[in-house]
Amino acid sequence: MSTDVWWKKAVVYQIYPRSFQDSTNDGVGDLAGIVQRLDYLKWLGIDAIWLSPIYPSPMQDFGYDITDYTGVDPRFGSLQDFDQLIARSHALGIRVILDVVPNHTSSEHPWFLSSRQSQTNPKRNWYVWRDPKADGGPPNNWRSVTGGSAWSLDELSGQYYLHSFLPCGPDLNWRSADVRAAVASALHFWLGRGVDGLRIDMVDFLAKDARFRDEADASYTFATAQRHLNQPEVAQTIEEICQVVEAYPDRVAIGEINPGSNVARTVSYYGKESRLQPFNFGLLGLPFEAAALKAYIQAYEAALPAEAWPNYTLGNHDTPRLASRLGQPGSRLAALLLLTLRGTPYLYYGDELGLENVVIPSDQIQDAWEARQPGKGRDPCRTPMPWHSESGAGFTQGEAWLPVGAQNRQRSVECQQQDEASMLMLYHRLIALRKRSPALLSGSLQLLNAPSEVLMYERALGDSQAITIANFSKASQKVVLPDKARGWQSIFSTQARELSKSGDSFELLPHEGILLS
Ligand code: GLC
Repeated sequence: MSTDVWWKKAVVYQIYPRSFQDSTNDGVGDLAGIVQRLDYLKWLGIDAIWLSPIYPSPMQDFGYDITDYTGVDPRFGSLQDFDQLIARSHALGIRVILDVVPNHTSSEHPWFLSSRQSQTNPKRNWYVWRDPKADGGPPNNWRSVTGGSAWSLDELSGQYYLHSFLPCGPDLNWRSADVRAAVASALHFWLGRGVDGLRIDMVDFLAKDARFRDEADASYTFATAQRHLNQPEVAQTIEEICQVVEAYPDRVAIGEINPGSNVARTVSYYGKESRLQPFNFGLLGLPFEAAALKAYIQAYEAALPAEAWPNYTLGNHDTPRLASRLGQPGSRLAALLLLTLRGTPYLYYGDELGLENVVIPSDQIQDAWEARQPGKGRDPCRTPMPWHSESGAGFTQGEAWLPVGAQNRQRSVECQQQDEASMLMLYHRLIALRKRSPALLSGSLQLLNAPSEVLMYERALGDSQAITIANFSKASQKVVLPDKARGWQSIFSTQARELSKSGDSFELLPHEGILLS
């Protein structure tokens, strides 16, 4: 595969459409709102946007529970609005990636409404139905990601249906040729309409043990599951999905998998000739320390199959906010890593502002996961984007579906664009530096020796070179420069300060990162 495909060099920005920009003042973001903000994304240096689901949905899982794979939910707009978004994005050189959710539909999808009618319904086999155990309990010990059994009894037809996530999202049966064909046709629909890529939800769940055996270890996690996910047959499904995507030139397929920082598991999902891009979630869960990160980067780089292209991500709509996990200084360092490591960076909307989790009052909780497992709800990281600091934050003139949060309002785009030292300006500059540097875009990566609390690595491509030095310590650290970097002129600090070299070493401030080139 060519090194020159667009998505290898792209900075990808995830938009949670409900929370980006509301153009109708109903308190929920929409497609026309995203169009209004494309200029901002262009200014930031974004090459591609990934939209969390926009399809018709009862919104019990905010769009990940779909009732029509080829429509747009009226709350987000219409197909015309979608075409407009594609056209305006492409005119600005911004690609559009859609989230697709093939593992399950909404329980209100017409397919499921038919399927549950009776055990002989022609669509029965489109979902995963099993008889109760002799004692009337669920067919096996599989658990849902959101806690509790992955099976719910359907009183109407007397069998249990499988739901790997919420009960409102019954799993499709990927062993049915009709299901495969129906989902493939939906993918063709969007690819034909001009989308540049697909992010495939829960790809590791697309095949289940054919005999529905119990997980041997009942306390299994989704990284260790042997039966409920990660079946060898997933490879064939990934291959089919990639074939659909590749029927269109220049498109990309990205897969969501759940291995935590298990490198072997992550790289096992690249598929034939490394055509699927499995998200690398390593940085989401690791301790933010030099030694752990160094070991992870080393292991990930070493495990990548031939032709595989790496990627990194620091946040998404399922994970507490980056700045709440690492604090503001840590987040600045994380930005440096994200934009200088080897691979495609995925940036979650608002992380460029250092947005933090918002405490959601109990009467405003939206995420169904919170009711099933208190503390697991994802509302705090899905709050509206603050564009300015006035009431409504420039997001809506209505009542926002989730609170903006007083602190996040103060971190608005407008405030930060006026402050040279802000998180936003840090991202803006780092993205620009990355775009100008062949080494950062496509070069090799080599880890260099450094003090134990410092991570240092070199990127190189021909004459183009860069070195990243990140100090994870609460104390200053003296770092001796590699010989080759001693004459380099450009020094960029994450702490927006002028730095000059004195001799062959640098004194890095606590949590400071620098980029030398
Ligand atoms: C993925 C999504 C998450 C969604 C779930 C079920 O993990 O990222 O937001 O709720 O799948 O579709």
